[in-house]
Amino acid sequence: MKISIVGGGYVGLVTGTCFAELGHEVTIIEIDPEKVRAINKGKPPIYEVGLEELLKKNAGRTLHASTDYDSVSIAEIVLIAVGTPPKPDGSANLSYIEAAGISIGKALKDNPSYCVVVDKSTVPPGTTEKIIKPAVLKASGKTEKEIGFAMNPEFLREGRAVEDFLHPDRIVIGSSESRAGNRVAEVYGNVKAPVISTGIMAAEMIKYTSNAFLATKISFSNEIGNVCKNLGIDVYEVMQGVGLDRRIGPLFLNAGAGFGGSCFPKDVSALVSLAKENGENPMLLESVLSVNEQQPHRIITLLKKRVGSLNGKRIAVLGLAFKDNTDDVRDSRAIPVIEELIREGAHVAAYDPMAMTTMKKVFSDIEYCSSAKETLHKADACLVMTEWPEFTRLDAEFKQMKTPVIIEGRKILSRKGTEGICW
Ligand code: UGA
Repeated sequence: MKISIVGGGYVGLVTGTCFAELGHEVTIIEIDPEKVRAINKGKPPIYEVGLEELLKKNAGRTLHASTDYDSVSIAEIVLIAVGTPPKPDGSANLSYIEAAGISIGKALKDNPSYCVVVDKSTVPPGTTEKIIKPAVLKASGKTEKEIGFAMNPEFLREGRAVEDFLHPDRIVIGSSESRAGNRVAEVYGNVKAPVISTGIMAAEMIKYTSNAFLATKISFSNEIGNVCKNLGIDVYEVMQGVGLDRRIGPLFLNAGAGFGGSCFPKDVSALVSLAKENGENPMLLESVLSVNEQQPHRIITLLKKRVGSLNGKRIAVLGLAFKDNTDDVRDSRAIPVIEELIREGAHVAAYDPMAMTTMKKVFSDIEYCSSAKETLHKADACLVMTEWPEFTRLDAEFKQMKTPVIIEGRKILSRKGTEGICW
């Protein structure tokens, strides 16, 4: 099938590359010419496990990138995969979605065949009907008989996005007519997964609900973890016993410094805004966010209990990325922790296997070290913020610390004497 994808960010790029791998002819439409050049050369502009191999294999053959919308005039499916960043009030900024709809509509004027416009971006329920559909139809001058609409949310985890695309738990397709929905189902070809067909608004809501539920599991574990810590109980032992109940499930129960990244904080806030706009008081979701906000501060409280005033102390921060396997620091829990360390007058020495360049844009004045060993040298304390596997192998490196105070934001070390944020 001929597919155009608007947006070459991590969702558009992974989706486009994987669709090319499945045998489709894909064009990624991206405004950044540097990204376009990189994609066409087979070099991923982002780090994602397994992506480089697939991109190299398909770029220039069945996968192309372009800054123009020409490919839309022959496309059978056009996917929207642009950002929906938060506005200051927490609601989703849909201006990129609308702009994409208008550009797609203009380009569809020249498309003689039936085409389906599919939203992949995470959007509040009603966005396809109220924003995308009118923008596309008005700009194209066509009718719903000539253009179909669907919503096909992505459930790709950063760092594991290729695997999640090729082996999904489910494929959700929201559409208002079967012709559009069937075409989207067809594009997934041999991908083995249950296909859930829903209305468009339900599909939009499924994405928000999934992320909000996962975020709730994390905040729940963190709150239980905080109680456990006071009682001298290891919350990881507790959640092992709890998670094996099939009604609960073992995943996303790892307590720690809270959830970060470009999705959970933004999507839960957008759902809170949506609930309020509709006259609801989303108490549970607001608590999920509050627990998440206060969790990083607890690590500083623990640190101060152990080392006293932080003024002039060298504090090693291991892990800057919002999780392992990525260079992404967006809403990383290391950010509020470093902010507070700086406020308290500490000397921050930081290291991350992948996210130093990205974090330098957030904090230019802290010390960036070239290894965990260098970071720990003469440190008064160490905070482990990201669950990088390489940190689990550290041993002698810790012996160079001035004082052996190690506090973890995620439980990865089995070292004696290590204290956890909530275990
Ligand atoms: C998340 C969802 O998992 C994807 O399904 C979804 O498609 C994506 O958002 C999106 O909306 O695009 P992602 O943000 O890449 O994916 O990261 P996750 O692996 O879900 O982790 C999110 C945060 O929760 C991280 O900071 C992680 O460290 C934290 N986390 C995760 C915990 O604190 N505890 C856990 O048990 C699991």
